[in-house]
Amino acid sequence: MTKGIILAGGKGTRLYPMTKVVSKQLLPLYDKPMIYYPISVLLLAGIKEILIISTPEDLDNYKKLLGSGEKIGVKFEYIIQEQPRGLADAFILGKDFIGDDNVCLILGDNIFYGSNLSEMLNKAVNNEGATIFACNVKKPQAFGVIEIDKDGKPVSIEEKPENPKSNLAIPGLYFFDNSVVEIAKNVKPSLRGEVEITSVIQDYLNNNKLKVVMMGRGIAWLDTGTPENMLKAAEFIEAVQSRQGYYISCIEEIAWRKKMINDEQLRRIGEELKMTEYGKYILSLLEEIK
Ligand code: G1P
Repeated sequence: MTKGIILAGGKGTRLYPMTKVVSKQLLPLYDKPMIYYPISVLLLAGIKEILIISTPEDLDNYKKLLGSGEKIGVKFEYIIQEQPRGLADAFILGKDFIGDDNVCLILGDNIFYGSNLSEMLNKAVNNEGATIFACNVKKPQAFGVIEIDKDGKPVSIEEKPENPKSNLAIPGLYFFDNSVVEIAKNVKPSLRGEVEITSVIQDYLNNNKLKVVMMGRGIAWLDTGTPENMLKAAEFIEAVQSRQGYYISCIEEIAWRKKMINDEQLRRIGEELKMTEYGKYILSLLEEIK
């Protein structure tokens, strides 16, 4: 089985004053809280047990928003991260939650959208070793960067390099087998004082257990790192939703389509929210099948 971890910590300083009292991943991205987007990715990957990691100040708000998860047929668990010690800390904090299972880590502010996303996730979830993704970007310096050979095999990985060896950024979505728990425990902090996810991935690369999947042009990986990027992401979501009539990352819809909840459960959620377009959309899904 594969479990999911959403890292929703950090101080969000680049978005101050917006994030001075509200955790970044609770901010709205158009019509829903940002964390709905990574939750939807985990649901599409068939993951039903999800650990949410956040700061001592913010964790209660995530609990208020998402509860036990029972309403949408999933199990949410919560754990505090006292200090933003780095992405690999998720596996140290999440050790007991992970148990003997595999794990998918997704960053709470990473947005993915595209037609073959489900298919891609379903393959990755069943891979051995580690699976990461690669996305072509204009400025790879801001990310973990992966270099691949002509057969698509990984050659090197670097965290925010000054002189990147490729334009391929590694998005914040990673699938690992259970050995990640042990690997993360032994990672030494980097110069910026964080246990880097790239060090974990490097270990898999050294042991020939790293698979890199290209996220092609058909998949949008949206950044929410600055107010401008947040606005652009929101506009993208609004444009797709209003044009197609399908919602992006409506977690209740995904849970229902995946048969994690039945019509009645979906109706109850829709009724509670029926004063909003979001609620009306949920109720309209039930009409679809009549
Ligand atoms: C982190 C990771 C980096 C990855 C990025 C994706 O960067 O360290 O490897 O490419 O997320 O969003 P950070 O959030 O620390 O800037």
